[in-house]
Amino acid sequence: MTAVEVRHFSYVYPGGARALSNVTFCVEEGERVAIIGPNGAGKTTLLFSISGLLKGEGTIRLWGLDQPKHFQELRRDLGFLFQDPEDQLFFPWVYDEVAAELQKNGNPSVPEEKIWTLLSRVGLTEKAHAAVSSLSPGEKKRLALATLLARHPRLWLLDEPSAGLDPGMRRTVIEWIHNLQGTILLATHDLDLALETCTRAILLDQGEVVADGPASELLTNEELLEEHGLTLPLSLQGVKNGKGPLQRLN
Ligand SMILES: Nc1ncnc2c1ncn2[C@@H]1O[C@H](COP(=O)(O)OP(=O)(O)OP(=O)(O)O)[C@@H](O)[C@H]1O
Ligand SMILES: [Mg+2]
Repeated sequence: MTAVEVRHFSYVYPGGARALSNVTFCVEEGERVAIIGPNGAGKTTLLFSISGLLKGEGTIRLWGLDQPKHFQELRRDLGFLFQDPEDQLFFPWVYDEVAAELQKNGNPSVPEEKIWTLLSRVGLTEKAHAAVSSLSPGEKKRLALATLLARHPRLWLLDEPSAGLDPGMRRTVIEWIHNLQGTILLATHDLDLALETCTRAILLDQGEVVADGPASELLTNEELLEEHGLTLPLSLQGVKNGKGPLQRLN
């Protein structure tokens, strides 16, 4: 079954910036697709449009239903991780943010244990009673992830899931993405993450689809990537162990 159908879709921001031009592609249920491209390519605009938060010209259908006409119906089936976690955190305290997300799932009395489990999965147990505003950007991303871990949508829209995370948490997120059920559309500059977690990649530049194909081919095509301001995934660049005069201070 086709989960996402985007046909001749264009989007121009109210100020006149053309972010997407005549974008067309389909994603089958269960596919894992990386959306890549340089800054300003239109990746975030595309995910927003698929989620129904932006209305452009052309057609977007999720499981055959037009977006954003069926926004209310479809929103329950979507799990959106925003590029900027500030856009999806609404509560003053860390603990409440996770509790509220669980309550949204139609469960008014959420077992405390469940909240602690989610906080522990993203390494925020010690920050449970901290103010959300006091968290670092990476910690806010972790909190946004915790709220998503509470959900089981059919379609995941993940915008820069590894941005701002330390290497340990990034690894955890990669494992988490591996274990997700459903269809995944993932916008990222982390081409190693894309290569590890996705089977297909779509390259956007200046709002247009430039290439669409198997991740293993597209993400290893150095010439194509460089033409569009990207570089090969680090894992393919032959990074060597540092043997220089490193001075350890403790
Ligand atoms: N709220 C906005 N108002 C006006 N123009 C915008 C707005 N958001 C994005 N744009 C413009 O739309 C284009 C696409 O932006 P978008 O954020 O979708 O790119 P992106 O590929 O996600 O970039 P990045 O890699 O930096 O996250 C850019 O030219 C950007 O300047
Ligand atoms: Mg973006």
